[in-house]
Amino acid sequence: MLLLIGKLVMGMIVTDNVSVRFLVQPGGALKGRIRVPGDKSISHRSIMLGSIAEGITKVSGFLEGEDSLATLNAFRAMGVSIEGPDAGKVTIHGVGLKGLKPPSQPLDLGNSGTSMRLLSGLLAGQAFDVELTGDHSLVSRPMRRVTEPLASMGARIGTTEKGTAPLQIKGGQPLEGIDYNMPVASAQVKSCLLLAGLYANSRTCVREPAPTRDHTERMLAGMGYPVTTENGKVCLQGGGKLMAASIDVPADISSAAFFLVGASIAPGSDLLLEHVGINPTRTGVLEILKLMGADIKVLNRREVGGEPVADLRVRAAQLHGIDIPVEQVPLAIDEFPALFIAAACAQGRTVLTGAEELRVKESDRIQVMADGLQALGAQAEPTADGMIIEGGTLNGGCVDSGGDHRIAMSFAMAGLRASGPIKIDDCANVNTSFPDFVSLASSVGLSVSNE
Ligand code: S3P
Repeated sequence: MLLLIGKLVMGMIVTDNVSVRFLVQPGGALKGRIRVPGDKSISHRSIMLGSIAEGITKVSGFLEGEDSLATLNAFRAMGVSIEGPDAGKVTIHGVGLKGLKPPSQPLDLGNSGTSMRLLSGLLAGQAFDVELTGDHSLVSRPMRRVTEPLASMGARIGTTEKGTAPLQIKGGQPLEGIDYNMPVASAQVKSCLLLAGLYANSRTCVREPAPTRDHTERMLAGMGYPVTTENGKVCLQGGGKLMAASIDVPADISSAAFFLVGASIAPGSDLLLEHVGINPTRTGVLEILKLMGADIKVLNRREVGGEPVADLRVRAAQLHGIDIPVEQVPLAIDEFPALFIAAACAQGRTVLTGAEELRVKESDRIQVMADGLQALGAQAEPTADGMIIEGGTLNGGCVDSGGDHRIAMSFAMAGLRASGPIKIDDCANVNTSFPDFVSLASSVGLSVSNE
């Protein structure tokens, strides 16, 4: 029997992962217009930067998912007064760069890698000690990618022997700026070091091997903090001030991605996705789907609070397999679970390379997706840094999401083209990024329910 087991973590109810199973009935088409929830990356940053700004920051469109709520609760635990969220509205009473207070217990960041990596930088420069921990997935993800460059700035952060959380951050350490060449293209590492750089005595520069999402840089600039970006190198000088701002969080293109794929593969679909963030560091999914033959129109382009936004109209199309251009990988890093479903429904072979990072996301997304696709009868061969998928037909069957929100939602969309029902185990973590997925997806034609 499946039970919903609730527990209280830092004031919020979370459900144990094993307890939620999706049941998807085969077939159907996606039609209508919807706005998917707010961008997770921007929601995290709105709380972090709003908290250390001077004055009152008002956020709208905030993602009320467990990941961004973990960040919100962490700042409340450090003495920041935050009202909401209420229908996506949050008001943050900023305490300034030096105004955070020591939390009375370790900060539990749940499943959220963004919270842990960005906070490790922001907290390395505080006067107090703090411990960061998380769920079984988060405490197995690599953290040396942040703790090592932070140590070279003067931070003292303890990890387990494997270089994983819990992270023990020692307060009162003076930080010096560094000039750092990132070995992996990671916005989390870049943002972590920029946030530590706010507290450093000198200039911090981070060079990225390929462009990654730049929401931190945009929001810092929007709050009046000078940041320069030149030839892939982002720099800032420590010791400045952030001024409160109004932040309108667009809909998350990573959540829109499930619907872009679902509507592309389901004959008869015609769907409008409203107010989606189309920051060019996030639009790899659009480029890749277009290369595969998708029919996606970018309508009504506008700029909202320093971030480009548009409505996306997607209609069903016959997709074909491609070699995914390697430069698109960091720009679509969270969308590969959904793109693998598109590839399995396309004509011909799709090959992904250069994406070894997928192995250290919320799950090993190469292995877990290959296992699930094979369980549905697809030809999917995992490789060290990607996947080779021969497009064809999908059967019904049982798949395990590995506790990974994006894998659960991707297999839900596979139901649109499967020949029988699909059961997806371990779906509670969909609440980390897309709390109303089942009802929103049902409202446009996906036959999905919580079993
Ligand atoms: C994120 C950056 C990406 C992405 C994650 C969110 C962010 O991680 O996968 O979901 O908000 O900075 P990496 O920067 O580690 O690739």
